[in-house]
Amino acid sequence: MSPTSPSPRPPRFAGRVALVTGAAGGIGASVAELLAAEGATVGVVDLNHASAEKVAARLRELGGEAAPYACDVSDARSVDETVERLCRDHGRLDILVTCAGVLRDNLLFKTGDDDWKAVIDTHLTGTFNCARAAQRPMVSQRYGKMVFLSSDSARGSRGQTNYSAAKAGIEGMAKTIAIELGKFDVNVNAVAPGFVETEMTRATARRIGQDYEEFKAGSAARAALGRVATPEDIAKVIAFLCSDDSAIMTGQVLLTRGSP
Ligand SMILES: NC(=O)c1ccc[n+]([C@@H]2O[C@H](COP(=O)([O-])OP(=O)(O)OC[C@H]3O[C@@H](n4cnc5c(N)ncnc54)[C@H](O)[C@@H]3O)[C@@H](O)[C@H]2O)c1
Repeated sequence: MSPTSPSPRPPRFAGRVALVTGAAGGIGASVAELLAAEGATVGVVDLNHASAEKVAARLRELGGEAAPYACDVSDARSVDETVERLCRDHGRLDILVTCAGVLRDNLLFKTGDDDWKAVIDTHLTGTFNCARAAQRPMVSQRYGKMVFLSSDSARGSRGQTNYSAAKAGIEGMAKTIAIELGKFDVNVNAVAPGFVETEMTRATARRIGQDYEEFKAGSAARAALGRVATPEDIAKVIAFLCSDDSAIMTGQVLLTRGSP
């Protein structure tokens, strides 16, 4: 290296401990992988221990630090216990990313009470449970980053009354928690993707009986960038919000839908 070259930056998340929900697949698994690759110890949280361990094992094989935690985010006690266990295991909690999610799409007149409750409990109550549990260590550390998964559907989406209500609620929650926790150096932001290539969009294509490639192409054609997002695209934006590169940003919703 020449004497004038800048010294390389240390990994962005060295020494940080992260908890990623819904991390057994899709966007959550990509976020977990990116945070681990850049030095974080990652708690891989999902409903099923075996599927969380599968991702955690892959991250460890890639040279990262990761451990699985089985937890239902809609259950406040399960979330509190998971956060307490993770803090006992790894000493702190710096980063929370909430990716756990389910869909129960239908037109309003066909949406049953169970469809409403499953989506609100997982997304809205689940995000609340995680944020409330995570703020305890973050406030006492005077450091934290929370990133909540919203969706472009928060702005209205046919057949998704439950989902769009939950996601709009999550955006409001991010702004309010950002106001409350700013003085403790805890940043709280949301990311709102459009179509992302994951099991969630595959399941939607199956439900409406459309070929996945055609379903994807329709969405890509409506996006200014002319393509849909990969989980890695979204993970990179989330990692930015988990890093000190975005230290001045809080209470923001980043629309990551490939269009203005
Ligand atoms: N895929 C998209 O097009 C898209 C677009 C916008 C927003 N999002 C949001 O991004 C997030 C991740 O979506 P994805 O596409 O990766 O979904 P996915 O279906 O691939 O993964 C969701 C994960 O959440 C887990 N999960 C479900 N309920 C849970 C619970 N109660 N407790 C713990 N874990 C639970 C599932 O087991 C699964 O591993 C979701 O919040 C989703 O609403 C996705």
